[in-house]
Amino acid sequence: MKKTALTGIKPTGLLHIGNYVGAIKPALELARNYDARYFIADYHALNTMKNPGELRASIREVAAGWLAAGLDPERVIFYRQSAVPETFELASFLTAFASKGLLNRAHAYKAAVQENLDRKADPEAGINMGLFTYPILMAADILLFDADLVPVGKDQVQHVEMAQDIAQAVNFNYQAPLLKVPQAALQEEAAVIPGLDGRKMSKSYGNTLPLFAPENQLRKLIMRIQTNSQGVEEPKDPDTSTLFFLYKLFALPEEQEALAARFREGGLGWGEAKAELFRVMNRELAPLRERFNALAADPARLDAILAAGAEKARGPARSTLGRLRKAAGLDW
Ligand code: ADP
Ligand code: TRP
Repeated sequence: MKKTALTGIKPTGLLHIGNYVGAIKPALELARNYDARYFIADYHALNTMKNPGELRASIREVAAGWLAAGLDPERVIFYRQSAVPETFELASFLTAFASKGLLNRAHAYKAAVQENLDRKADPEAGINMGLFTYPILMAADILLFDADLVPVGKDQVQHVEMAQDIAQAVNFNYQAPLLKVPQAALQEEAAVIPGLDGRKMSKSYGNTLPLFAPENQLRKLIMRIQTNSQGVEEPKDPDTSTLFFLYKLFALPEEQEALAARFREGGLGWGEAKAELFRVMNRELAPLRERFNALAADPARLDAILAAGAEKARGPARSTLGRLRKAAGLDW
């Protein structure tokens, strides 16, 4: 039997090239060899997104993005977290097995407290229970589906470890392997994609190349990638260039060799190099953009795909809950 890979995607705005190369592509690659369950973590987003229109738009944008990038909903179970209510019953169940001390140690909560202390505010100012119990909801997402593998970035590894702890506490209490203990699959740091200013591409830095930017906007943004002041004739070092880093992600091996050689020879201006980057990037992204625009124009179809995914997810979810209720003495 194939092993199960599961991951949640928080719908918090426009997808960018960093999300595509660092998260979407590797997860789709993994889905070739695993039974994959990928979901939109909309209740996790609710902690920070209180505007209904924005949240709804973000859910659809992120869902359309994954589908446009090649997620096949016939092979990957793809759903909204909020459409699988078993998640929330399991989260309640797990609160009885998660010590408060464990949650006090969560990085995200500790960072929020520290930020308050730094500005001499009440340590708990602005911290809602959703942030505090975030790891329990995430444990429920994972444990509900007996996930073997959870592909995540570095900042999420601690949450997967907490899911392990909580699953073990349940299994120990009932002296039965009721919940599968999951493993994190760390998406390597080597894949940190730089943004327009050379720092990590991130929404928080405003330095992104949006994945589905229209062609003209993509071209304009690429022209804004920061370069040094070397003139056209000067030889350039491809290995320290943001532009060349991005080029490697989209170019064929022979194209990479050819452009690296032109960097080193001199005679290649930054403008020309950027035009070449635009060419290869747009070659890969144009078909994605087209699929994305078609999905974005047909929200009913998108919603139907997500609803069908939730329907498929709920069978196994009910069976996990049934197992737990029975073990706990809550089974009537
Ligand atoms: P942002 O930093 O723009 O808010 P998120 O934190 O929402 O992005 O990222 C979602 C996922 O996309 C992360 O788990 C991470 O794996 C991936 N990701 C985001 N930015 C990058 C980047 N610059 N390079 C590689 N992967 C990234
Ligand atoms: N917390 C994750 C993030 O911020 C998203 C997420 C929610 C998740 N539930 C999950 C990831 C379950 C993996 C498994 O990126």
